[in-house]
Amino acid sequence: MRDFYENYFAAIERSQAHRSFCERVFGKDLGQHGFADLEQLELLIEATGLGPGQRVLDLGCGNGMIAEYLSDRTGAHVSGLDYIPLAIEQAQKRAVSKADRLAFELGDINRLELPPEAFDLVLSIDTIYFSEDYVATIRELKAALRPAAEMAFFFSYGREPWVPVEEFPVEKLPPDKTPLAEALAANGLVFRTWNLTDADYRLALKRKEVLLGLKPQFELEEALFIYENRMGDAEGVSQAIEAGLHARYLYLASTGAI
Ligand SMILES: C[S@@+](CC[C@H](N)C(=O)[O-])C[C@H]1O[C@@H](n2cnc3c(N)ncnc32)[C@H](O)[C@@H]1O
Repeated sequence: MRDFYENYFAAIERSQAHRSFCERVFGKDLGQHGFADLEQLELLIEATGLGPGQRVLDLGCGNGMIAEYLSDRTGAHVSGLDYIPLAIEQAQKRAVSKADRLAFELGDINRLELPPEAFDLVLSIDTIYFSEDYVATIRELKAALRPAAEMAFFFSYGREPWVPVEEFPVEKLPPDKTPLAEALAANGLVFRTWNLTDADYRLALKRKEVLLGLKPQFELEEALFIYENRMGDAEGVSQAIEAGLHARYLYLASTGAI
């Protein structure tokens, strides 16, 4: 996966096809490789009450464009962390003039070295999947929260195309039963959830339609691997939702009442 992301962040810097893809699917090009569009980011801002002076950690920030957008939009200070050096360099270069609100650092979700009690919000947009141990990662993230702070996760859970239907644990689809829910509860965190499955389905269909139109441009740019990667996830998600075997949620978790 690391090789994929090295190539991906190098390619999207040059790819007009990828920029068009993000604008048309997500509402704005923020270098997205996750599944959150502007509507989902607005829900996040509303649910967390993100605002000036708050300190946010964006776990798996990629090239930092979502972190920058959230900071521009709310005035919050956002620190981004990702394990791809090129993505972090791109983010740091872009954010030079906003150093009072943005910071980016190389780091690994599986080897976190976070300052204690430093953040009002830890945010993970389609990145907790890369944790080898959700319970341990959330323990580390919890230690980095200030008192009465929160964690927000955009999290999809569903059958991957290569998993036989009868082996997928459908009983884990409800929001309080997913592997993330179990890991939050194991860390003594309480949470609220928003069901984004319908929106996820609409976005998967939109990705397929937009990608088909942009395929010749991806080919011309010799960036067909992006088309194939994004088409693969769009087909997997839409088929799994049609079969009732996929759900997407926003989780807002806290050590106290929410
Ligand atoms: C699905 S993308 C989501 C990126 C961004 N949050 C978004 O929504 O577009 C996953 C991101 O996690 C990063 N990542 C994957 N494994 C990681 C790890 N072990 N440590 C830190 N970052 C990781 C990737 O480089 C990539 O930027």
